[in-house]
Amino acid sequence: MADKMWAGRFQETLNAEADDFNSSIRFDSKMVKQDIMGSIAHATMLYKTHILTEEEGLQIISGLQAVLADITSGALPVDPAAEDVHMFVEAELTKRLGNLGKKLHTGRSRNDQVAVDVRMYLRDEADEIKSLISDLITAVYKKAESCRGMVMPGYTHLQRAQPITFGHHLCAYCMMFIRDMGRLEDAVKRMNVCPLGSAALAGTTYPIDRALTAELLGFDGYTLNSLDGVSDRDFCVELGSALSLLMTHLSRFSEEVILWSSWEFKFVELSDAFTTGSSIMPQKKNPDMAELVRGKTGRVYGDLITLLTMLKGLPLAYNKDMQEDKEAIFDACDTVKQCLKVFAPMIDTMEALPDNMRKAAQKGFINATDLADYLVGKGLPFRSAYKISGSLVHYCIENNKVLETLTLDEYRQFSDLFEDDLYAAIDLNACVEKRNSPGGTGKESVTAELAYIKNYLEGTEG
Ligand code: ARG
Repeated sequence: MADKMWAGRFQETLNAEADDFNSSIRFDSKMVKQDIMGSIAHATMLYKTHILTEEEGLQIISGLQAVLADITSGALPVDPAAEDVHMFVEAELTKRLGNLGKKLHTGRSRNDQVAVDVRMYLRDEADEIKSLISDLITAVYKKAESCRGMVMPGYTHLQRAQPITFGHHLCAYCMMFIRDMGRLEDAVKRMNVCPLGSAALAGTTYPIDRALTAELLGFDGYTLNSLDGVSDRDFCVELGSALSLLMTHLSRFSEEVILWSSWEFKFVELSDAFTTGSSIMPQKKNPDMAELVRGKTGRVYGDLITLLTMLKGLPLAYNKDMQEDKEAIFDACDTVKQCLKVFAPMIDTMEALPDNMRKAAQKGFINATDLADYLVGKGLPFRSAYKISGSLVHYCIENNKVLETLTLDEYRQFSDLFEDDLYAAIDLNACVEKRNSPGGTGKESVTAELAYIKNYLEGTEG
């Protein structure tokens, strides 16, 4: 077991099992770059405020840069026996610089160090996730654009309800993902505040310059209470909940893709590149990617619950429980990234089957509302019109007919307001075309919706 930096107060060495249990190096070495960048900013501040001499500061900085370069090139493997990434980097620096390396931790604690590292790591992750969401919105937008004229049944209660277009349906997901982007941006806003300088919990007696370290690390400012600075993990919870809701959307979309690609619907055909076969049933083509995304949603929710539960009973300020934040939020980020990386190309390569969509739309009396609206147009109150239309549907079911094929005489048995123009009014295309209220499924409305999404995407570029 390596000698602990904190060994001074102890007579016995740490039990091997306890040492292993205590260590976070397995998962926090992911933050080695952020840890070293944080230390470089801290060392810069220490010499600019004359807490260290300029020469000391610059030597420490080049030592840290060399450690980072060696880790990046693979020349320096991370020591699996280290207590955590912070101890590992400091020990390596001290190995190289001797006593000077031991000056780096002046006016700082691992408590503010880990808080700053996690914030920096997660803001990078959030950026990457945002750009993957943007790729997904682009893929869904393109599909929506090319499928804007395809009529399909819209559902409520998974029962055929009213005709819509496939393009309009897909645009709904773009709206969800645009809100997800907003939630991530908002979470990053509150995350991007620097806790460094909070020290262990109470601040420090050294004349540190918190504004300088915050600025050097690209933060918008620094945290205003040192106890809160080291014990706040709200930013993990906020990111975790934004990611959970994103997964909810991906999961609902997955469920639809799974339904649509079944033989019962066959509204879409997924590409071979995003489906798998069965080991026994030769005919099978399974939507595994969508199923896995749906399945992994529970995992991200679990990460969020881990974070919330970890925090709920903690007295101020830092407690070791907080070490559990990283595995949960890192897993949430990694899982979301994996899902987004397969989901966007799966949608991009998905083939829409408009004939099947239209056939399904013709079967379920989904123009019954339009039939009622037709009678309203002839002067009948909606409730009375609704009743007549319902009776006609019942008549069709009894006689194995559909609204489009009833004769005018049959219609007139229900109301003498029916005339020849009723057929045009209940034509599926017409039903869709007429719904041009803002946000509706009509052509004009969907054109406006697509323009909004396109404009949003252009605004996120660069
Ligand atoms: N590995 C620890 C963590 O992830 C670093 C902070 C430890 N601080 C302490 N006083 N033990 O939370």
